[in-house]
Amino acid sequence: MAERQATVFIYLPGETIAVPAGRFYHDPDAGVGRFAYGRRYVERPNALAVDPVTLPLGPPPRETTVNGGIYGAFRDSAPDHWGRLVIAMEMGAPPEAVSEMDCLLAASAARTGNLDFRVNPEDPEPGLHPPQFNDLVDVMEAARRIESDERVEPHLFQLLRQGSSMGGARPKCTVEWGDGLWIAKFPAKGDRLNIPRIEHATMTLAGRCGIRIPEVRLIPMNGTDIFLVRRFDREKRGGGWSRVGFLSALSLMQWDERDRPRWDYPALADIMRRHARAEDIRELFRRMVFNILVRNTDDHPRNHGFLMDGRSLSLSPAYDIVPTPARAGVGTDFHLAMSVGEAGRTATVKNALSRSARFGLTHEAAVREVESIKDIAVRWREHFESCGVSSRDRDLLAPSFQRCDS
Ligand SMILES: Nc1ncnc2c1ncn2[C@@H]1O[C@H](COP(=O)(O)OP(=O)(O)O)[C@@H](O)[C@H]1O
Ligand SMILES: [Mg+2]
Repeated sequence: MAERQATVFIYLPGETIAVPAGRFYHDPDAGVGRFAYGRRYVERPNALAVDPVTLPLGPPPRETTVNGGIYGAFRDSAPDHWGRLVIAMEMGAPPEAVSEMDCLLAASAARTGNLDFRVNPEDPEPGLHPPQFNDLVDVMEAARRIESDERVEPHLFQLLRQGSSMGGARPKCTVEWGDGLWIAKFPAKGDRLNIPRIEHATMTLAGRCGIRIPEVRLIPMNGTDIFLVRRFDREKRGGGWSRVGFLSALSLMQWDERDRPRWDYPALADIMRRHARAEDIRELFRRMVFNILVRNTDDHPRNHGFLMDGRSLSLSPAYDIVPTPARAGVGTDFHLAMSVGEAGRTATVKNALSRSARFGLTHEAAVREVESIKDIAVRWREHFESCGVSSRDRDLLAPSFQRCDS
């Protein structure tokens, strides 16, 4: 396949209309990507880097071969499995046939972060027309049909399509509600537990443990539960939305998706010392410990994010924290997705404490952090009950919380 190109647009802070920042060239066969800032863009007094770490404004950007030649910041603003499925449906093609560039260009204005991708620099500003809260039942039904490869009425498909360009694999859609945009996360085909309700209970438990979470809600609708998370990368401004830049930990670290052995919390903490505040590193430690205590083994580096104002990075509010059910009879050992300490990915508090200095914590301070999280997490059953998680689901999840009791 020939090289493909796109103009990269950016929403500068407080703006609701994007400006062209540069041009992205992608050779899918060679797996090489190249980005060049536009001359006029760089001359703007308020120009910001599209990614201050990998693509700073000064030197000519280096080409990339990571993740098939798509710069991390770009990939973070494109859909993943779920959004790709929706785009594939529209293109009438199987999801594997949708290229990375197709994904970048076809994503709706609900995409994550402050970037946009268009074929030409003159292409018009895309409207952000996500469904409204009152459309949720219809949109959820449309998502269910897409998962089952069933036909969806065109107007419903368009509604869902407008809200479906964030990352992740689970069915979801951005909706407008009150003065905010929210991600509505639906049940997925094949769920054996009530995941929206469990995600709500786990996120609010994390909040009680001192972890920074976005505003969240659990909305029962027509007998189904929907989990709503307020988007932290959008703010209503006049008739439009201003946007905040977003970078996943995968992108900040320039890790490859398939290179799991390199994924490592202490290494992330080291880089954060250069780009983020000390308090954020302590917060990362808390999230790692919480993931161990609730057996969230899906803590891969795209489930950790940073917000960028162009100059500095800050750890985004936490998201996508859900206990992984433990299968009966397979023992109590488990691994996180990223390396925790001297025993690698082994998910134990002892392992988490083994590298506390890398998180800027003395051993005593780290132990105090763990104890204060544990004191609250150990009462997970009461909290889950008050959040309406069924006794069946609580029983099924009990083995996932063993680390709280030990
Ligand atoms: N509150 C939020 N505001 C803005 N973007 C978010 C928020 N929560 C998650 N995201 C982005 O959306 C992606 C998908 O959300 P996530 O909850 O991880 O879904 P999934 O369970 O399908 O992986 C994340 O990887 C992140 O880039
Ligand atoms: Mg996720």
